[in-house]
Order: sequence, then structure tokens, then C-alpha cells
Amino acid sequence: MNLKKLGNTEVFIPEIGLGTWNYKGGVEPLRAGIKLGASLIDTAEGYYTEDIVGEAVRSFRDEVIIATKVSGRNLAHDSVIKSCEASLEKLGTDCIDLYQIHWPNPLYPIEGTMRALEKLVDRGCVSYVGVSNFSARQMSEAQRYFPNYPIVSNQVLYNLNSRDIEKELLPYCLDNEVTVMAYTPLDNGRLCRPGDGILSEIAAETGKTEAQVALNWCVCQENVIVIPKADSVVKTVENCGASGWRLSPEQLRMLDEGF
Ligand SMILES: NC(=O)c1ccc[n+]([C@@H]2O[C@H](COP(=O)([O-])OP(=O)(O)OC[C@H]3O[C@@H](n4cnc5c(N)ncnc54)[C@H](OP(=O)(O)O)[C@@H]3O)[C@@H](O)[C@H]2O)c1
Repeated sequence: MNLKKLGNTEVFIPEIGLGTWNYKGGVEPLRAGIKLGASLIDTAEGYYTEDIVGEAVRSFRDEVIIATKVSGRNLAHDSVIKSCEASLEKLGTDCIDLYQIHWPNPLYPIEGTMRALEKLVDRGCVSYVGVSNFSARQMSEAQRYFPNYPIVSNQVLYNLNSRDIEKELLPYCLDNEVTVMAYTPLDNGRLCRPGDGILSEIAAETGKTEAQVALNWCVCQENVIVIPKADSVVKTVENCGASGWRLSPEQLRMLDEGF
């Protein structure tokens, strides 16, 4: 499993993590992924999967990076603190490795949200703070109200069919040493299906599957990691096989042109 730096920290994270939105696989797929080096699990208070994540990692908590999120409706200062306490309880841990703001919400001034997050880091309840679904402008505003720590990641939609972030957000994150955590990297399974298109052509050429090619395409970007969700051990193992090799520049060019 290839590792990448988390933001501008000295922490290294796997380029393939494990998503858990709508996750119904129990502990085994998560444990199989972790065994293969996919030791970052993404969850959220809004997914109702924090308890299964906590259960899956209980006996080797220190080997895993847990990323969870506070919901957009809980961004008032005191609600952030309460949400974090509830997440710690459900995850069965005393520290969240990466705590992310799930969605920006104009109803709550970002200043109060960031002040709460700073308190949580100061108290040792959270190691690093990230955001999700933030534009470059929203990131830079949030960072202004969080002067003592870096915002290390932004979790956003990114896959071969959804490339909006390439215009502004991806370059901003690269310039500011922010990790991009690509969600829905398989386009909800649509990029896993064999067919007669360029994805299947390159899968045949590389001896990999369509899903592995689609994930590898994302992580070919220097600061991007992916968090595919899979309910089975077989698919999880397959997705972990998207790391440890690279598409060639010519294959990347063909995919860029074909999508
Ligand atoms: N921050 C946000 O706002 C946000 C939004 C969406 C998602 N996310 C995060 O990103 C994670 C991933 O995104 P996602 O769940 O939307 O979509 P995804 O990972 O692109 O796709 C998941 C779908 O692909 C299928 N799949 C996975 N691996 C496969 C394989 N190797 N072969 C065939 N099918 C495969 C899964 O099947 P099975 O499940 O049946 O195995 C599932 O139906 C989420 O779980 C969540 O953690 C975050």
C-alpha cells in the first residue's frame, strides 16, 4: 500500500482508505482492508456507522486512522463539542485522528465552529482537523479562524466522471499542502462494470480490474487519496489492489480523453 502525507503533517496515510456511508458489511471487510494496509476508515456522525467502525478496530486501535465528521446541522460552537463527545463514545476511543466538518452551513458562522474545533485539539480529543465539500474560498476562510493548526484535508467528490475540483480546488489544495480525500471514487459502482470502453481496455492492458484502474487514476494525483466503500471482503481486497502500481502517462492520457 502506497502512503501519502496527511496535509503538511509528518503523518503518513494509505492512498486507499475505507468508506462507510451506507456500509452494511460488518467488521470483516474493514478488518480485511486494514490487514492490506487500508488503515484509514472514513465515517461520520450522520452515517450511523461509527459503532461498527469502533468495534472493527477495538483490538488494534493504534494501527488505524479514524476519520469522522460533525454534521452540517451541528456546527454551532457547543453542538460541535457535543457531537465530538458522542462520536468518541460511539467509536470507543479517546481521540479522533481526523475530525472533519461534513458540509459548510451558512446558518452557523464558521468562526464559532473553528473555535470549538481548536478547543477539541487543545484538549487532545482530536488530532487533526479537516473539512468536506468546502470550496477553496470556504477553506481559506475557515483557516483564517483556525490560526494555530492547519486544516489538513478536504473530502470531496472526485472520480473519472466527476472532475469539477480540477479547475480550482485541486490546485488550491496542492499549493496549500491539503490532502484531497476523494469520495464516491467508483461513482457508486458505475466505474466497476466491464464494458467496451477505454476503462475496460486499460483494465485488460494492465491486468487489473475496472475498479482498480478507476481508483488508481485518482491516486495518480500527488495529493489525492480515495475512500471507496465495499460491503464484502472480496471487493475490499480488490480495491486495495488499486495501490502499489501506477498507470502509465499514456494510459492516463487515454483515460483523460475517454471520459
Ligand atoms: N463527505 C461526503 O459528503 C461524502 C459523500 C459521499 C460519500 N462519502 C464517503 O466516501 C465513501 C465512498 O463513496 P460512496 O460510498 O458514495 O461510493 P463508491 O465508493 O464510489 O461506490 C460504492 C459502491 O461501489 C460498489 N463497489 C465497491 N467496490 C467495488 C468493486 N471492487 N467492484 C464492484 N463494485 C464495487 C459498492 O458495492 P457494495 O457496497 O455492494 O459492496 C457500492 O455499491 C463513502 O462510503 C463515504 O465514506 C462522503
